[in-house]
Amino acid sequence: MSAIEEVEVRPALSHEEYLRALKLRVEVFVEEQGGPLEDEPDCWDPAARHFVALRDGEIVGTARFYQPCLGVGKIGRVAVRREARGQGLGRQLLETMIGHARSLGLREIRLDSQVSVIGFYERLGLQSEGGPFMEAGILHQSMRLTLRGDHVEPGSPDTSGSSRTGSDGGPRSSLSDRARPSSSVPGSLQR
Ligand SMILES: CC(C)(COP(=O)(O)OP(=O)(O)OC[C@H]1O[C@@H](n2cnc3c(N)ncnc32)[C@H](O)[C@@H]1OP(=O)(O)O)[C@@H](O)C(=O)NCCC(=O)NCCS
Repeated sequence: MSAIEEVEVRPALSHEEYLRALKLRVEVFVEEQGGPLEDEPDCWDPAARHFVALRDGEIVGTARFYQPCLGVGKIGRVAVRREARGQGLGRQLLETMIGHARSLGLREIRLDSQVSVIGFYERLGLQSEGGPFMEAGILHQSMRLTLRGDHVEPGSPDTSGSSRTGSDGGPRSSLSDRARPSSSVPGSLQR
């Protein structure tokens, strides 16, 4: 059996599992990359569904998913344990989350990629839009994957399905992980 066949990718099933995923985020984003500890967790965490990749019971990968507005899924905090990288785990994690977004009938997925890993997301079909920007001291790029091009959400503030850009051409202003969730974020604690 290959290493990738031994991996299980699924939503975290308990608060304890979420805390283990958070520990991995601290290892990767704070200790390895020097990001701010106060962002792990941040205010989006309670509204997010947290996915984990497990190998032999150990969490070796994690990412989170939430809906910042109707029809849109946002993926973030994608992290694979350093020793486990380059084995297809990141791909397996993202494919599971994209499948989750499809099963919800969402029209698109957005994420803010660190510029150094754009190629990883491009292999999964995401495309860059707008210009690069700084977040947590690291250069980022907004990316999007269209799941359904013809969908219009009744009553949605974003009914065009087209890209809304900020002053610098980026679409991130209302959707940044660093922006606070509005009180209308549906389904808080989707676990
Ligand atoms: C980015 C990250 C999640 C990728 O996970 P991974 O398990 O190593 O990636 P995979 O092994 O599944 O790679 C899947 C494909 O993407 C490619 N890839 C992986 N990292 C890449 C990178 N930095 N740039 C370009 N391509 C990359 C792989 O070569 C592979 O290509 P292939 O399918 O053609 O063989 C992982 O490196 C990581 O956790 N990095 C630190 C945290 C981080 O930067 N997260 C992203 C925040 S936006």
